[in-house]
Amino acid sequence: MPKTTISVIKADVGSFPGHSRTHPKLLEKAAQMLKTEKGKLLTDSFVTHCGDDLELIMTHTHGVDNEKVHKLAWEVFMECTKIAKTLKLYGAGQDMLADAFSGNVKGMGPGVAEMEFEERGSDPVMVFMADKTEPGAWNFYLYKIFADPFNTPGLVIDPSLHEGFIFEVHDLIGKRKIRFACPEESYSLLAYIGAPSRYVIKYVFKKDGTIAASTSTQRLNMMAGRYVGKDDPVMIVRAQSGFPSMGEVIEPFTIPVLVAGWMRGSHHGPFMPVGLCDANCTRFDGPPRVVCFGFQVTNGTLIGPADMFDDPGFDRVRARCNKLADTIRAQGPFEPHRLSLEEMEYTTLPAVEKKLATRWEPLRE
Ligand code: F6R
Ligand code: MG
Ligand code: MG
Repeated sequence: MPKTTISVIKADVGSFPGHSRTHPKLLEKAAQMLKTEKGKLLTDSFVTHCGDDLELIMTHTHGVDNEKVHKLAWEVFMECTKIAKTLKLYGAGQDMLADAFSGNVKGMGPGVAEMEFEERGSDPVMVFMADKTEPGAWNFYLYKIFADPFNTPGLVIDPSLHEGFIFEVHDLIGKRKIRFACPEESYSLLAYIGAPSRYVIKYVFKKDGTIAASTSTQRLNMMAGRYVGKDDPVMIVRAQSGFPSMGEVIEPFTIPVLVAGWMRGSHHGPFMPVGLCDANCTRFDGPPRVVCFGFQVTNGTLIGPADMFDDPGFDRVRARCNKLADTIRAQGPFEPHRLSLEEMEYTTLPAVEKKLATRWEPLRE
């Protein structure tokens, strides 16, 4: 049996109204294009959206960073951009930063999370998709899932998890990476990942090197060199039998956490777990939200999805997120609702500062 690869590739190529949700015509086109590749380039596929982001979930046997798979995703986004332009959807083609495909969609606008693995006897996989936030948003949750025994009792009582996990952290500004073994180095890990705008967890591995989780780490505005939109990351997490259980993987989403990326990519807001029916951004262009689709991966076929946050078990966190949203919204244009100045460099604020630059006079004290 060849190894299975899961590639989750996403882009915002237009939405309605404003940056709220993906149009059904785009979802239909993308699903059709991927289905034609079933049994050819792809083993299986599933198309969905979170807010204004079109999400392509693909399985195949060609490994990560495969040129043909990336090219297919690029072509899907290009075709969907055409439809978005015809319908005059908002931000049509927004995340397509290049005119032509050149080998890999990384660095060209779309976000990518991929992993290749040997299927176990039964292989549950959770795919998380977010809107109105940045890749570092996953840091908190990955730490809770794979390093916090108060979230994941399996770390304490299951011998197959007891050794802990290895976290690969990428420095998106310094362009470097490092690995930390947990629990031994959990304080060192936290020293970095507590600054999620710069340090992001890219992968989690078992101590024997088996892949456990993979995230998209593309920062759209850094790639574009100007404000385009938010990165709106995706994440793949394997569950059960030697990994945290399905329930341990989604449990940390019961905590209302503030993340960056709300309104104009410039505000902090609560990260709300929602079912697909609520995966549409409205209030203040948000609030930031996340959907989770659970699959069994069976010989590369995607059995599912199960809409994991479509559950009254998550009603309370949604209510708490709404409360938090009221509290932080009341601060209007003030920090810490608005992002720090350092992070505002990647928004539209510098253009305003440029306009006012000549008005400033030196202080002579
Ligand atoms: C987009 C986003 C939105 C926009 C805002 C302004 O992902 O987060 O909040 O930044 O709606 O959009 P423009 O500048 O296109 O009018
Ligand atoms: Mg948009
Ligand atoms: Mg988006």
